[in-house]
Amino acid sequence: MNDKMTIGVLTSGGDAPGMNAAIRAVVRTGLTNNMNVVGIQHGYEGLINGEFRPLGLRDVGGILQRGGTVLLTSRSKRFMEPAGQRDAIRRMNEAGMDALVVIGGEGSMNGAYALSQQGIKVIGIPGSIDNDIWGTNIAIGTDTAMNTIMEAVDKLRDTASSHQRAFLIETMGRNSGYLAVMAAIVCGAEMTLIPEEPVTVDEVAAAVEEAYKRGKTHAIIINAEGSGVRTTDLAERINELDLGFKTRMTILGHIQRGGSPTAYDRLLASRRGVKAVEALAEDKHGVMTGLKGKGIDFIPLVDVISNKRKVNMEYYHMAKVLAR
Ligand code: F6P
Repeated sequence: MNDKMTIGVLTSGGDAPGMNAAIRAVVRTGLTNNMNVVGIQHGYEGLINGEFRPLGLRDVGGILQRGGTVLLTSRSKRFMEPAGQRDAIRRMNEAGMDALVVIGGEGSMNGAYALSQQGIKVIGIPGSIDNDIWGTNIAIGTDTAMNTIMEAVDKLRDTASSHQRAFLIETMGRNSGYLAVMAAIVCGAEMTLIPEEPVTVDEVAAAVEEAYKRGKTHAIIINAEGSGVRTTDLAERINELDLGFKTRMTILGHIQRGGSPTAYDRLLASRRGVKAVEALAEDKHGVMTGLKGKGIDFIPLVDVISNKRKVNMEYYHMAKVLAR
């Protein structure tokens, strides 16, 4: 009889920088704790299909600094249905998998909770550039995405001020304005459009005109993708109005998702991977490795999925004041 515990690890939803660092930490901590570790490819889709392979110490060598996820990922529609979850659980049982580590965003935590409700020992590690997951200050990948946005906006600002232009820059974040608000602070944007605080095109136009009148050499407007205002429409409208500045727009897109993780993300991912496996070794499950203050906390998955994370509006107002 094999009394070694076998844990599976998967990444799900949008890839985020630092996921590989978390996989590495799960594998190496698991093996150090005398467990078998199985990598599941393509997220929940691979769990349904039985895309499993045992992972050894050397299998996770050289991945710490790489963006994306070596386990590959997916947004599985099948897994959202009870039938898909049933198939996944059957595959896990066939493979002798005792527990599962799920690295991913909000949707992935919903999936993790569904499995835990059906008796599977599961632990979540929050990984998403959007930082929209309740129960943690920050998810893996958000810091790297912020730095990518900052570098891009700094470059765009060079052109904006050299030509006295208004630049409309679209950031990702799905339904969350987190990336846009934080980008506005670290990049000095004149205005930010976020889903949480709708504004009209006229208000944006007024901010651009104001910036011109105050003698600014440029105006940077950050538009979160979920703000409800299309960046192309906004750019067109602002250009039509004679506000002093000419206008250009840039949609940053998937550039924000890729790239080598920052030191912060590597550290956070490593700590979370270790904590997740240590928790499973102590038979702790049904939780997510959140970050409160400086410590890793275990947050019940039921709380994670039943609460909505809100953008801290203090930062939104701060960005406005600092751009004066
Ligand atoms: O969740 C990460 C994210 O990049 C969101 O910011 C964005 O809305 C979405 O994924 C894009 O998804 P996809 O890569 O499937 O187009």
